[in-house]
Amino acid sequence: MKGIVLAGGSGTRLQPVTSVISKQILPVYNKPMIYYPLSVLMLAGIREIQIISTPQHVDLFRSLLGNGNHLGIELDYAVQKEPAGIADALLVGADHIGDDSCALILGDNVFHGPGLYGLLRSSMAKLDGCVLFGYPVKDPERYGVAEVDSEGRLTALTEKPSQPRSHLAVTGLYFYDNDVVDIAKNIRPSARGELEITDVNRVYLEQGRAHLVDLGRGFAWLDTGTHDSLLRAAQYVQVMEERQGVWIAGLEEIAFRMGFIDAEACHHLGQGLAHTDYGAYLVEIAGRGAP
Ligand code: DAU
Repeated sequence: MKGIVLAGGSGTRLQPVTSVISKQILPVYNKPMIYYPLSVLMLAGIREIQIISTPQHVDLFRSLLGNGNHLGIELDYAVQKEPAGIADALLVGADHIGDDSCALILGDNVFHGPGLYGLLRSSMAKLDGCVLFGYPVKDPERYGVAEVDSEGRLTALTEKPSQPRSHLAVTGLYFYDNDVVDIAKNIRPSARGELEITDVNRVYLEQGRAHLVDLGRGFAWLDTGTHDSLLRAAQYVQVMEERQGVWIAGLEEIAFRMGFIDAEACHHLGQGLAHTDYGAYLVEIAGRGAP
């Protein structure tokens, strides 16, 4: 499976913070926002990942993450010329996807919770069509909304409905089989002029091949779209890390625990960050040996 992180858009709701910088580079507590979605793809075991951003910002991500080899992954970069919609990322990334399946994640989505690794792996293993991840929210009108029947089967998908018929938001993580590129090629822009990811997902739904995994209430899916929600996300990460003494979305740690890099490489990365707590933490876990 190939991965795509979509990290473009205009970030207008976060201006002036985003006037000269990409939203997905902004810190969520102690690391750039893009670390969080990237960590999810890595936890899913995906090692070939394309980062899509705007012509102005793509080089920021390249400088930050390079070719990914230090993390045992392969990163490449592509440009979305205009914010033409989330589904447009599947067209920009078509060559990267090739004849493989694909996981698309939005560069501003933060996921954290128990069992994420297992959930990702089992969803990938049974992929037939698409897998969406639902999350209960109190303001569903801000999101793509899913409706399910009494057995939890997906029955309807609506983008930002004014009168939502459920509280289940569709999060910004999508697993697709290879048909997704053709499906994305055939959808038309919505009234707001974007290729909507919900329209792609609806094609799978009509084919009876869209599946929804409910992340459930014990999980955190955090919003970073406004100044307040960005601050709350940062506070969440700070509280969890401080209390548990573990790191959320530490890419180097995940690379080590996933077996993408060995203990020696992890130690070396930790030494490079020696002046930070995270560097000491990496050196410590590398010292414990095998992940
Ligand atoms: O976060 C989950 C939600 O994301 C889903 O529930 C919705 O179904 C989906 O449409 C999307 O809604 P948003 O209103 O959050 O989409 P937004 O336009 O804010 O874009 C989400 C991220 O994707 C944002 O960080 C910018 C980036 N983006 C967006 C567009 C439209 C791009 O990089 N390029 C684009 O063309």
